[in-house]
Amino acid sequence: MTGRKVAKNVFFLGAIDWDRRLFDELIPLPDGTTYNAFLVKGSGRAALVDTVDPSMSHVLLGMLDDSGIDQLDYVVINHAEQDHSGSLPLVLEKYPEARVVTNQKCKNLLMEMLLIPEEKFLVIEDRSTLLLGNKTLEFIFCPWVHWPETMITYLREDKILFTCDFFGSHLATSDLFATDKSLIYESAKRYYAEIMMPFKVPIRKNIEKIQDLPIDIIAPSHGPLHGQPGFILDAYREWISDRVKNEVVIGYVSMHGSTHKMVEHLVDVLIQQGIRVKQFDLTRADIGKFAMALVDAATLILASPTTLGGTHPQAVFGAYLVNALRPKTRFVSIIGSYGWGGKMHDQLVDLLSNLKIDFLDPVIIKGYPKKQDFESLTKLGVLIRKKHDENAIS
Ligand code: FEO
Repeated sequence: MTGRKVAKNVFFLGAIDWDRRLFDELIPLPDGTTYNAFLVKGSGRAALVDTVDPSMSHVLLGMLDDSGIDQLDYVVINHAEQDHSGSLPLVLEKYPEARVVTNQKCKNLLMEMLLIPEEKFLVIEDRSTLLLGNKTLEFIFCPWVHWPETMITYLREDKILFTCDFFGSHLATSDLFATDKSLIYESAKRYYAEIMMPFKVPIRKNIEKIQDLPIDIIAPSHGPLHGQPGFILDAYREWISDRVKNEVVIGYVSMHGSTHKMVEHLVDVLIQQGIRVKQFDLTRADIGKFAMALVDAATLILASPTTLGGTHPQAVFGAYLVNALRPKTRFVSIIGSYGWGGKMHDQLVDLLSNLKIDFLDPVIIKGYPKKQDFESLTKLGVLIRKKHDENAIS
Protein backbone atom coordinates (compact mmCIF):
# COMPACT_ATOMS: atom_id res chain seq x y z
CA MET A 1 0.00 0.00 0.00
CA THR A 2 0.98 3.57 -0.52
CA GLY A 3 0.47 6.49 1.83
CA ARG A 4 -2.36 8.89 0.99
CA LYS A 5 -2.40 12.66 1.21
CA VAL A 6 -4.50 14.18 3.99
CA ALA A 7 -3.24 17.76 3.57
CA LYS A 8 -0.11 19.34 2.14
CA ASN A 9 2.80 17.26 3.49
CA VAL A 10 0.53 15.29 5.79
CA PHE A 11 0.02 11.64 4.85
CA PHE A 12 -2.11 8.73 6.01
CA LEU A 13 0.08 5.67 6.56
CA GLY A 14 -2.62 3.43 7.98
CA ALA A 15 -3.26 -0.28 7.64
CA ILE A 16 -6.72 -1.63 6.81
CA ASP A 17 -7.48 -4.84 8.70
CA TRP A 18 -10.41 -6.14 6.65
CA ASP A 19 -10.47 -9.56 8.26
CA ARG A 20 -10.14 -8.94 11.99
CA ARG A 21 -13.28 -10.09 13.78
CA LEU A 22 -12.41 -9.73 17.47
CA PHE A 23 -10.63 -7.06 19.47
CA ASP A 24 -9.22 -7.52 22.97
CA GLU A 25 -10.50 -11.10 22.60
CA LEU A 26 -13.88 -9.60 23.52
CA ILE A 27 -15.20 -6.98 21.11
CA PRO A 28 -16.81 -8.17 17.87
CA LEU A 29 -15.56 -6.37 14.76
CA PRO A 30 -18.19 -7.18 12.12
CA ASP A 31 -16.65 -4.64 9.75
CA GLY A 32 -12.95 -5.06 10.60
CA THR A 33 -10.93 -2.01 11.58
CA THR A 34 -8.03 0.19 10.59
CA TYR A 35 -4.91 1.27 12.46
CA ASN A 36 -4.09 4.77 11.32
CA ALA A 37 -0.65 6.33 11.47
CA PHE A 38 0.22 9.72 9.98
CA LEU A 39 3.38 11.25 8.59
CA VAL A 40 3.82 15.00 9.05
CA LYS A 41 6.63 16.49 6.98
CA GLY A 42 7.69 19.89 8.17
CA SER A 43 10.22 22.02 6.32
CA GLY A 44 12.82 21.01 8.88
CA ARG A 45 11.82 17.72 10.39
CA ALA A 46 9.48 14.78 9.96
CA ALA A 47 7.26 13.13 12.55
CA LEU A 48 5.24 9.94 12.50
CA VAL A 49 2.08 10.20 14.61
CA ASP A 50 1.31 6.77 16.12
CA THR A 51 2.15 3.43 14.54
CA VAL A 52 -0.03 0.42 13.71
CA ASP A 53 -0.92 -2.95 15.19
CA PRO A 54 2.15 -5.23 15.15
CA SER A 55 0.31 -7.72 12.92
CA MET A 56 0.46 -5.07 10.18
CA SER A 57 3.89 -3.54 10.79
CA HIS A 58 4.92 -4.51 7.27
CA VAL A 59 2.26 -2.17 5.84
CA LEU A 60 3.55 0.81 7.80
CA LEU A 61 7.18 0.07 7.09
CA GLY A 62 6.41 -0.28 3.38
CA MET A 63 4.63 3.08 3.35
CA LEU A 64 7.53 4.71 5.16
CA ASP A 65 9.84 3.30 2.48
CA ASP A 66 7.68 4.91 -0.19
CA SER A 67 7.29 8.21 1.64
CA GLY A 68 10.52 9.76 0.39
CA ILE A 69 11.89 10.62 3.83
CA ASP A 70 15.57 9.90 4.50
CA GLN A 71 15.27 10.56 8.16
CA LEU A 72 12.49 10.30 10.72
CA ASP A 73 13.05 12.70 13.59
CA TYR A 74 10.11 11.91 15.85
CA VAL A 75 7.50 9.28 16.54
CA VAL A 76 4.63 10.79 18.50
CA ILE A 77 2.79 8.19 20.57
CA ASN A 78 -0.64 9.37 21.69
CA HIS A 79 -1.60 6.14 23.43
CA ALA A 80 0.42 3.15 24.62
CA GLU A 81 -2.03 0.38 23.69
CA GLN A 82 -0.32 -1.98 21.31
CA ASP A 83 -2.71 -1.60 18.37
CA HIS A 84 -1.14 1.86 17.98
CA SER A 85 2.27 1.53 19.60
CA GLY A 86 3.04 -2.09 18.75
CA SER A 87 5.07 -1.35 15.62
CA LEU A 88 7.22 1.19 17.45
CA PRO A 89 10.16 -1.19 18.07
CA LEU A 90 10.41 -1.94 14.34
CA VAL A 91 10.08 1.74 13.41
CA LEU A 92 12.90 2.59 15.82
CA GLU A 93 15.00 -0.21 14.37
CA LYS A 94 14.51 1.28 10.91
CA TYR A 95 15.05 4.88 12.08
CA PRO A 96 17.43 4.66 15.06
CA GLU A 97 17.76 8.45 15.15
CA ALA A 98 14.05 8.98 15.89
CA ARG A 99 12.96 10.19 19.33
CA VAL A 100 9.73 8.93 20.85
CA VAL A 101 7.62 11.95 21.78
CA THR A 102 5.07 11.35 24.48
CA ASN A 103 4.02 12.14 28.04
CA GLN A 104 5.58 10.68 31.17
CA LYS A 105 2.77 8.18 31.84
CA CYS A 106 2.87 6.89 28.29
CA LYS A 107 6.66 6.66 28.41
CA ASN A 108 6.44 4.49 31.53
CA LEU A 109 3.92 2.19 29.86
CA LEU A 110 5.96 1.90 26.65
CA MET A 111 9.08 1.04 28.63
CA GLU A 112 7.17 -1.70 30.46
CA MET A 113 5.14 -3.11 27.59
CA LEU A 114 7.45 -2.71 24.60
CA LEU A 115 10.81 -2.53 26.39
CA ILE A 116 11.70 0.77 24.70
CA PRO A 117 14.96 2.12 26.23
CA GLU A 118 14.62 5.30 28.29
CA GLU A 119 17.11 7.28 26.20
CA LYS A 120 14.79 7.08 23.19
CA PHE A 121 12.18 9.36 24.72
CA LEU A 122 11.45 13.05 24.52
CA VAL A 123 8.91 13.69 27.29
CA ILE A 124 6.47 16.53 26.66
CA GLU A 125 4.01 18.41 28.87
CA ASP A 126 0.36 19.27 28.39
CA ARG A 127 -0.08 22.04 25.76
CA SER A 128 3.60 22.01 24.87
CA THR A 129 4.65 22.23 21.22
CA LEU A 130 7.17 20.67 18.89
CA LEU A 131 8.38 22.57 15.83
CA LEU A 132 8.98 20.68 12.59
CA GLY A 133 10.01 23.84 10.70
CA ASN A 134 6.88 25.20 9.08
CA LYS A 135 4.58 22.85 10.97
CA THR A 136 3.83 22.85 14.69
CA LEU A 137 2.56 19.95 16.76
CA GLU A 138 0.74 20.78 19.99
CA PHE A 139 0.14 18.06 22.57
CA ILE A 140 -3.09 18.07 24.54
CA PHE A 141 -3.41 15.60 27.40
CA CYS A 142 -6.77 13.81 27.38
CA PRO A 143 -6.49 11.36 30.25
CA TRP A 144 -8.85 8.39 30.47
CA VAL A 145 -9.92 8.35 26.86
CA HIS A 146 -9.61 5.46 27.48
CA TRP A 147 -6.33 4.89 29.35
CA PRO A 148 -4.67 7.20 31.89
CA GLU A 149 -1.92 8.32 29.51
CA THR A 150 -4.05 9.17 26.45
CA MET A 151 -3.34 12.44 24.67
CA ILE A 152 -4.11 13.99 21.31
CA THR A 153 -1.90 15.93 18.91
CA TYR A 154 -2.95 19.09 17.12
CA LEU A 155 -1.26 20.16 13.91
CA ARG A 156 -1.78 23.90 14.13
CA GLU A 157 -1.08 25.07 10.59
CA ASP A 158 -3.40 22.48 9.02
CA LYS A 159 -5.96 22.43 11.86
CA ILE A 160 -5.79 18.64 12.08
CA LEU A 161 -6.48 16.89 15.36
CA PHE A 162 -4.88 13.44 15.66
CA THR A 163 -7.05 11.83 18.32
CA CYS A 164 -5.97 8.16 18.35
CA ASP A 165 -8.88 6.13 19.86
CA PHE A 166 -10.95 9.26 20.63
CA PHE A 167 -13.67 9.63 17.94
CA GLY A 168 -12.54 6.36 16.34
CA SER A 169 -14.61 3.65 14.71
CA HIS A 170 -13.92 0.02 14.01
CA LEU A 171 -14.58 0.14 10.29
CA ALA A 172 -12.37 -1.27 7.56
CA THR A 173 -12.87 0.97 4.57
CA SER A 174 -10.91 2.26 1.63
CA ASP A 175 -12.48 5.69 2.16
CA LEU A 176 -9.94 8.05 3.68
CA PHE A 177 -12.70 10.36 4.90
CA ALA A 178 -16.11 9.49 6.35
CA THR A 179 -18.67 9.71 3.57
CA ASP A 180 -21.61 7.43 4.43
CA LYS A 181 -22.91 9.16 7.58
CA SER A 182 -25.30 6.43 8.70
CA LEU A 183 -22.57 3.79 8.38
CA ILE A 184 -19.98 5.85 10.23
CA TYR A 185 -22.51 6.79 12.92
CA GLU A 186 -23.20 3.11 13.62
CA SER A 187 -19.57 2.08 13.73
CA ALA A 188 -18.52 5.09 15.80
CA LYS A 189 -21.36 4.45 18.23
CA ARG A 190 -20.35 0.79 18.51
CA TYR A 191 -16.80 1.93 19.22
CA TYR A 192 -17.99 4.44 21.82
CA ALA A 193 -20.26 1.87 23.49
CA GLU A 194 -17.62 -0.81 23.81
CA ILE A 195 -14.58 1.28 24.70
CA MET A 196 -15.42 4.84 25.70
CA MET A 197 -18.77 4.59 27.52
CA PRO A 198 -17.26 3.92 30.97
CA PHE A 199 -15.32 7.18 30.61
CA LYS A 200 -18.18 9.61 29.98
CA VAL A 201 -17.07 12.06 32.65
CA PRO A 202 -13.43 12.40 31.52
CA ILE A 203 -14.64 12.61 27.92
CA ARG A 204 -16.84 15.58 28.83
CA LYS A 205 -13.84 17.39 30.29
CA ASN A 206 -11.64 16.50 27.33
CA ILE A 207 -14.17 17.72 24.78
CA GLU A 208 -14.24 21.02 26.67
CA LYS A 209 -10.46 21.19 26.29
CA ILE A 210 -10.68 21.12 22.52
CA GLN A 211 -13.88 23.04 21.93
CA ASP A 212 -12.15 26.34 21.15
CA LEU A 213 -9.63 24.86 18.73
CA PRO A 214 -10.23 25.55 15.05
CA ILE A 215 -10.48 22.04 13.61
CA ASP A 216 -10.72 21.21 9.90
CA ILE A 217 -10.05 17.48 10.23
CA ILE A 218 -10.37 14.99 13.07
CA ALA A 219 -8.00 12.12 12.31
CA PRO A 220 -8.57 9.18 14.66
CA SER A 221 -6.45 6.03 14.59
CA HIS A 222 -9.37 3.69 13.82
CA GLY A 223 -11.73 4.14 10.89
CA PRO A 224 -12.05 7.01 8.43
CA LEU A 225 -11.11 10.64 9.07
CA HIS A 226 -13.70 13.33 9.70
CA GLY A 227 -13.56 16.22 7.26
CA GLN A 228 -16.73 17.58 8.87
CA PRO A 229 -15.77 17.32 12.54
CA GLY A 230 -19.10 18.69 13.78
CA PHE A 231 -20.76 15.39 12.89
CA ILE A 232 -18.70 13.23 15.26
CA LEU A 233 -18.42 15.95 17.92
CA ASP A 234 -22.22 16.29 18.03
CA ALA A 235 -22.65 12.52 18.20
CA TYR A 236 -20.25 12.31 21.16
CA ARG A 237 -21.97 15.22 22.91
CA GLU A 238 -25.26 13.32 22.69
CA TRP A 239 -23.79 10.00 23.86
CA ILE A 240 -22.00 11.49 26.88
CA SER A 241 -24.97 13.65 27.91
CA ASP A 242 -27.24 12.68 30.80
CA ARG A 243 -30.17 12.28 28.43
CA VAL A 244 -31.73 8.83 28.13
CA LYS A 245 -34.43 7.66 25.74
CA ASN A 246 -37.78 5.99 26.22
CA GLU A 247 -36.17 2.61 25.51
CA VAL A 248 -35.81 -0.69 27.32
CA VAL A 249 -32.95 -3.10 26.68
CA ILE A 250 -33.63 -6.71 27.57
CA GLY A 251 -30.71 -9.11 27.91
CA TYR A 252 -31.94 -12.61 28.56
CA VAL A 253 -31.08 -16.29 28.73
CA SER A 254 -33.64 -19.09 28.69
CA MET A 255 -32.93 -22.81 28.87
CA HIS A 256 -36.36 -24.42 28.56
CA GLY A 257 -38.57 -21.54 27.48
CA SER A 258 -40.01 -20.24 30.77
CA THR A 259 -37.83 -17.12 30.97
CA HIS A 260 -38.26 -16.58 27.25
CA LYS A 261 -42.06 -16.65 27.68
CA MET A 262 -41.73 -14.01 30.42
CA VAL A 263 -39.59 -11.84 28.15
CA GLU A 264 -42.04 -12.24 25.29
CA HIS A 265 -44.93 -11.08 27.47
CA LEU A 266 -43.01 -8.13 28.91
CA VAL A 267 -41.89 -7.01 25.45
CA ASP A 268 -45.51 -7.01 24.32
CA VAL A 269 -46.57 -4.94 27.33
CA LEU A 270 -43.75 -2.45 26.81
CA ILE A 271 -44.63 -2.02 23.14
CA GLN A 272 -48.26 -1.42 24.15
CA GLN A 273 -46.95 1.21 26.57
CA GLY A 274 -45.28 3.04 23.70
CA ILE A 275 -41.74 2.09 24.67
CA ARG A 276 -39.06 1.09 22.17
CA VAL A 277 -37.62 -2.32 23.09
CA LYS A 278 -34.34 -3.98 22.11
CA GLN A 279 -34.12 -7.66 23.01
CA PHE A 280 -30.88 -9.68 23.11
CA ASP A 281 -30.38 -13.40 23.68
CA LEU A 282 -27.14 -13.23 25.67
CA THR A 283 -26.03 -16.67 24.51
CA ARG A 284 -25.67 -15.56 20.91
CA ALA A 285 -26.20 -11.81 20.55
CA ASP A 286 -23.60 -9.52 19.05
CA ILE A 287 -22.48 -7.92 22.30
CA GLY A 288 -21.50 -4.81 20.37
CA LYS A 289 -25.17 -4.26 19.51
CA PHE A 290 -26.13 -4.95 23.12
CA ALA A 291 -23.58 -2.32 24.23
CA MET A 292 -24.86 0.17 21.62
CA ALA A 293 -28.41 -0.26 22.85
CA LEU A 294 -27.23 0.59 26.36
CA VAL A 295 -25.88 3.98 25.25
CA ASP A 296 -29.36 5.54 25.20
CA ALA A 297 -31.81 3.26 27.03
CA ALA A 298 -33.52 4.48 30.20
CA THR A 299 -34.18 0.96 31.46
CA LEU A 300 -32.47 -2.42 31.46
CA ILE A 301 -34.11 -5.78 32.12
CA LEU A 302 -31.88 -8.74 32.86
CA ALA A 303 -33.63 -12.08 32.59
CA SER A 304 -32.13 -15.39 33.62
CA PRO A 305 -33.10 -18.91 34.54
CA THR A 306 -31.55 -20.51 37.60
CA THR A 307 -28.69 -22.81 36.67
CA LEU A 308 -26.69 -24.90 39.12
CA GLY A 309 -28.35 -23.00 41.94
CA GLY A 310 -27.54 -19.52 40.64
CA THR A 311 -27.56 -17.17 37.67
CA HIS A 312 -26.95 -18.66 34.24
CA PRO A 313 -23.26 -18.00 33.36
CA GLN A 314 -24.19 -16.16 30.15
CA ALA A 315 -26.44 -13.82 32.15
CA VAL A 316 -23.53 -13.30 34.57
CA PHE A 317 -21.40 -12.31 31.58
CA GLY A 318 -24.09 -9.87 30.41
CA ALA A 319 -24.41 -8.29 33.85
CA TYR A 320 -20.64 -8.11 34.28
CA LEU A 321 -20.35 -6.40 30.91
CA VAL A 322 -23.08 -3.87 31.76
CA ASN A 323 -21.37 -3.12 35.06
CA ALA A 324 -18.04 -2.56 33.30
CA LEU A 325 -19.56 -0.36 30.57
CA ARG A 326 -21.38 1.85 33.13
CA PRO A 327 -24.21 3.03 30.87
CA LYS A 328 -26.41 5.94 31.93
CA THR A 329 -29.36 3.57 32.40
CA ARG A 330 -31.65 4.81 35.18
CA PHE A 331 -33.84 1.77 35.98
CA VAL A 332 -33.17 -1.96 36.18
CA SER A 333 -35.36 -4.93 36.89
CA ILE A 334 -34.47 -8.60 37.07
CA ILE A 335 -36.84 -11.28 35.95
CA GLY A 336 -36.55 -15.03 35.54
CA SER A 337 -37.66 -18.49 36.43
CA TYR A 338 -36.31 -21.14 38.80
CA GLY A 339 -36.99 -24.81 39.36
CA TRP A 340 -36.19 -25.39 43.00
CA GLY A 341 -34.62 -22.17 44.31
CA GLY A 342 -31.38 -20.24 44.04
CA LYS A 343 -29.74 -16.87 44.38
CA MET A 344 -30.08 -15.58 40.83
CA HIS A 345 -31.64 -12.22 41.74
CA ASP A 346 -29.15 -11.34 44.49
CA GLN A 347 -26.19 -12.35 42.35
CA LEU A 348 -27.28 -10.09 39.50
CA VAL A 349 -27.89 -7.16 41.85
CA ASP A 350 -24.37 -7.60 43.26
CA LEU A 351 -22.91 -7.71 39.76
CA LEU A 352 -24.36 -4.27 38.94
CA SER A 353 -22.71 -2.46 41.84
CA ASN A 354 -21.04 0.19 39.64
CA LEU A 355 -24.35 1.57 38.40
CA LYS A 356 -26.33 4.38 39.96
CA ILE A 357 -29.71 2.84 39.29
CA ASP A 358 -33.14 2.51 40.70
CA PHE A 359 -33.98 -1.20 41.00
CA LEU A 360 -37.61 -1.88 40.17
CA ASP A 361 -39.32 -4.86 41.81
CA PRO A 362 -38.11 -8.13 40.27
CA VAL A 363 -40.40 -10.81 38.89
CA ILE A 364 -38.91 -14.16 39.85
CA ILE A 365 -41.21 -17.12 39.32
CA LYS A 366 -41.24 -20.88 39.82
CA GLY A 367 -41.45 -22.93 36.65
CA TYR A 368 -43.46 -21.86 33.61
CA PRO A 369 -45.24 -18.48 33.94
CA LYS A 370 -48.84 -18.64 35.14
CA LYS A 371 -51.68 -16.11 35.14
CA GLN A 372 -50.44 -14.23 38.21
CA ASP A 373 -46.90 -14.15 36.79
CA PHE A 374 -48.08 -12.56 33.56
CA GLU A 375 -49.99 -10.03 35.67
CA SER A 376 -46.79 -9.21 37.58
CA LEU A 377 -44.96 -8.69 34.31
CA THR A 378 -47.77 -6.46 33.04
CA LYS A 379 -47.48 -4.39 36.22
CA LEU A 380 -43.72 -4.12 35.69
CA GLY A 381 -44.21 -2.86 32.14
CA VAL A 382 -46.75 -0.26 33.29
CA LEU A 383 -44.42 0.82 36.11
CA ILE A 384 -41.55 1.30 33.65
CA ARG A 385 -43.72 3.61 31.55
CA LYS A 386 -44.73 5.52 34.70
CA LYS A 387 -41.07 5.92 35.72
CA HIS A 388 -40.17 7.17 32.25
CA ASP A 389 -43.04 9.65 32.32
CA GLU A 390 -42.20 10.89 35.83
CA ASN A 391 -38.64 11.55 34.67
CA ALA A 392 -39.75 13.22 31.41
CA ILE A 393 -37.98 10.54 29.35
CA SER A 394 -39.21 10.63 25.79
FE1 FEO B 1 -7.09 1.47 19.67
FE2 FEO B 1 -6.90 1.83 23.08
O1 FEO B 1 -6.39 1.24 21.38
